Amino acid sequence: MDQQIQEIKQWLYQAGDKIKSSLSAELSIDEKSSRTDLVTNMDREIQNFLIDKVHQNYPEAKILAEENGYNELTSMSGEVFVIDPIDGTLNFVLEKENFCIMVGLYEEGRSKLGFIYNVMQDELYWGGRGYGVFCNEKQLERPEDKALTEGLIGMNAHMYLHNHYQAQAIGKRSMGVRMSGCAGIELIAVIKGARVAYLTNLSPWDYAAGCAILDAFDFRYSRIDGQSLSFNGREHFVAGTPKAYSQMIGML
Ligand code: IPD
Ligand code: CA
Ligand code: CA
Repeated sequence: MDQQIQEIKQWLYQAGDKIKSSLSAELSIDEKSSRTDLVTNMDREIQNFLIDKVHQNYPEAKILAEENGYNELTSMSGEVFVIDPIDGTLNFVLEKENFCIMVGLYEEGRSKLGFIYNVMQDELYWGGRGYGVFCNEKQLERPEDKALTEGLIGMNAHMYLHNHYQAQAIGKRSMGVRMSGCAGIELIAVIKGARVAYLTNLSPWDYAAGCAILDAFDFRYSRIDGQSLSFNGREHFVAGTPKAYSQMIGML
């Protein structure tokens, strides 16, 4: 297992180096569903790099990933790598920071390991049930189980603006609302105790890695109706400390 963790960490550090060394090169950018839904040559390159690594090292494993036709799986049976090559592509294009590379590893639909690499901060958060949670080599303590009223909440801007699912009342009950444009950064913030919750709308590759790490702390996450996530298409998503999560589920 240790070998597997070291191996996947190396994939992510190498992928991050590829992005860092390409920052001054011109990007090729395509629109997907809208002018704010972008994919770049680097999203594709990083995904291909990670998929090659999975194929070379885990030929039996299945892959669920955002780009290039890998974005659907009929079932989560067996070993599944869930990959978001660049999470926060808009930030990557416009800010050149505040984006992550994410890999989640699932077995028979159950989380095993999650890796979220904030490339420009050079912070690789990883962990899983029974392994604890780390930032690079440093083990993190489980954050205090704070209530919604005691901390900050990360939120999806569209949901907050249009007050979907009581988002504004939930924000008001917290100490303040934060929006980063990157699911990985929001989930890292919950994992390290900087925020108590995250309310949003995500695809499986946006939440898989973060949920595997949250499982190491027994923090909570689900669809907003409290049902399990399906790993199939976008879903409204809530995560947080046990206390904040329960308060939010009661309000949603
Ligand atoms: C997006 C980001 C964003 C979230 C969107 C995601 P992408 O991922 O994580 O924060 O609100 O739902 O699609 O497309 O940049 O990988
Ligand atoms: Ca994403
Ligand atoms: Ca992405």
